[in-house]
Amino acid sequence: MCTVVGYIGRGYSREFVMEGLSRLEYRGYDSAGFSCLHPDDNRLLYVKAEGKLHNLVTKLEDSPIDGFTGIGHTRWSTHGASSVKNAHPQFDCERTISIVHNGIIENHRELKVKLLESGHVFHSDTDTEIIAHLFEALYKTHKTFKGAILDLVGYLQGAYAFITILQDKPDVMLLVRKRSPLCVGIGDGEMYVASDMLAFAGKTNKVLFLPDESFALVHKDMIELYHFDGTPLPMNIQEVELTWDMYEKQGHDHYMLKEIYEQKGAIHDTVDFLSTVHDRVWDDMGVTEQSIAQLDSINLLGCGTSWHAAYIAKFFFETICMIPTRVHLASEFRHMPLFAQKNSFYLALSQSGETADTLEGMRLIKSMALPIIALTNVSSSTMVRESDGFILTQAGREIAVASTKSFSTQLTALYWLAHRIALEKKIITSKKMQQAEKELLVVAEVLENCIENYRMPIMQTYAKEYAQYKNMIFLGRHISYPFALEAALKLKEIAYIFATCYPAGELKHGPLALVDEGMMTFVFSHQDPLVYQKLVSNVQEIKARKGKVTAFAFEDQKQLLDIADVSFIIPHVNPLLGPLAMTGLMQFLFYAIAKELDRPIDKPRNLAKSVTVE
Ligand code: F6R
Repeated sequence: MCTVVGYIGRGYSREFVMEGLSRLEYRGYDSAGFSCLHPDDNRLLYVKAEGKLHNLVTKLEDSPIDGFTGIGHTRWSTHGASSVKNAHPQFDCERTISIVHNGIIENHRELKVKLLESGHVFHSDTDTEIIAHLFEALYKTHKTFKGAILDLVGYLQGAYAFITILQDKPDVMLLVRKRSPLCVGIGDGEMYVASDMLAFAGKTNKVLFLPDESFALVHKDMIELYHFDGTPLPMNIQEVELTWDMYEKQGHDHYMLKEIYEQKGAIHDTVDFLSTVHDRVWDDMGVTEQSIAQLDSINLLGCGTSWHAAYIAKFFFETICMIPTRVHLASEFRHMPLFAQKNSFYLALSQSGETADTLEGMRLIKSMALPIIALTNVSSSTMVRESDGFILTQAGREIAVASTKSFSTQLTALYWLAHRIALEKKIITSKKMQQAEKELLVVAEVLENCIENYRMPIMQTYAKEYAQYKNMIFLGRHISYPFALEAALKLKEIAYIFATCYPAGELKHGPLALVDEGMMTFVFSHQDPLVYQKLVSNVQEIKARKGKVTAFAFEDQKQLLDIADVSFIIPHVNPLLGPLAMTGLMQFLFYAIAKELDRPIDKPRNLAKSVTVE
């Protein structure tokens, strides 16, 4: 998504703003801009560039503007093409108000018509420019920021986090937040503002997360914070431990590779963490022991990779604690009837804890007074703040757009949770619970060993071959089907190779027509003998039509290993943990293919890490 960054203080702003944008560039990168107030006469200055942040850096070398108050932006286009005119900052008519915005103003068309009628002149196709003009009009009427903002937020529909600076008021920066994230790092005579605190990691550990539906007037040494109803809000300043060097690539070519390798440690950390919260987990989750003992259905909600993790976890909950589980795509959830069930809870999965579709789903659930729990990687996220309770993975921050360690730690946490619920319901013993924790640690080892077995020169040879394909088919059965979905997503997003995914039994109902000698099919195996035999039959159907097959198979699955053109072999683990065991190798192979194709692996085109618009 878009990133907003701002600085006000005793130093110059450009260095921090540009570094903050660069740290958060994973959020969006179609165009970028920087704006500041001239240190001598407060004139509003700006430079904007199309394309990656690097282009803005180059332009700023030619026009080296700077000032004590400055804002910056990287854009992930929603309204209007990626171009200099649509890059942020956007301005009012007089170009004395400069604004950077993350989010979407849903009623921008109606507002623009009214503003055009009253004589405002627009220079971009963005929804953001509407905010600048509307604020210009309202500030002229109200003459105070508070009055103008209170009126402004009454007009704006949608999600937004924006920062505004004004030529006439150099000592203050205006921040407004509804649904999109925004936080302030509090320094000594200086304030750092950003969509994500990673922007100011290492500069201060004091952070104010703007509450939802709030606005702030930020001075270099003071903040005034208000709710959208005008009441002053308390300053809930949090101390966080965050340093930037934790997020360097540490010798790896890409963040994605670093994060693939971090999975073993992240799974260990997640198991360690969950075993320490063992007794108080229901308190953390905002539920009671009694409600868990009576639980008779579970609802899981998420998008993309988080949805795939939820889909795999359905098998955990239904097998381990025998609770019927429904999995909802968060982006569809709001359009579906919501059947309130007794003795149930909703668990929203999100690495970032900021995904707009998932958040909106959570808000709908909350509005029906149903229990909503967040499973996330970020303890300071909006989802943690807005849910009844939470359960945390310990993946650490993920920088590469493609999720890797967040997926494996979500599976870890959900496998653990399924056992913890089973224990509460007296379906399993404490000994079995401890055994489940050990199984997770073993799988973490298997995951890493599988990558090590196919180290880079070997994997590169495979990657060269796969890089020739434009289309592929992905198949799985039972728990390996949602894993195949995740694998197909990874290949598409980082290598830009099209992959369609089906439950293997569906092949003969249509997609088999695609199979010929030029089609590659990936098959993800299962350790259950019946499921395995059916998969082998499906592979035979492909081979009979001269299709090529790559199998992710378990040791001793001789029939599959013999029949497949290429096989990647995984040691035996608990069958429910088969997908987790395959995760590292699958990610590593697709990473190698993307590398072979020279794709921008950490920042695939058109994608952003934190999807804060619906
Ligand atoms: C794919 C990927 C996305 C995210 C999705 C949800 O690699 O990263 O599909 O999984 O955008 O994001 P979170 O988990 O942050 O809610």
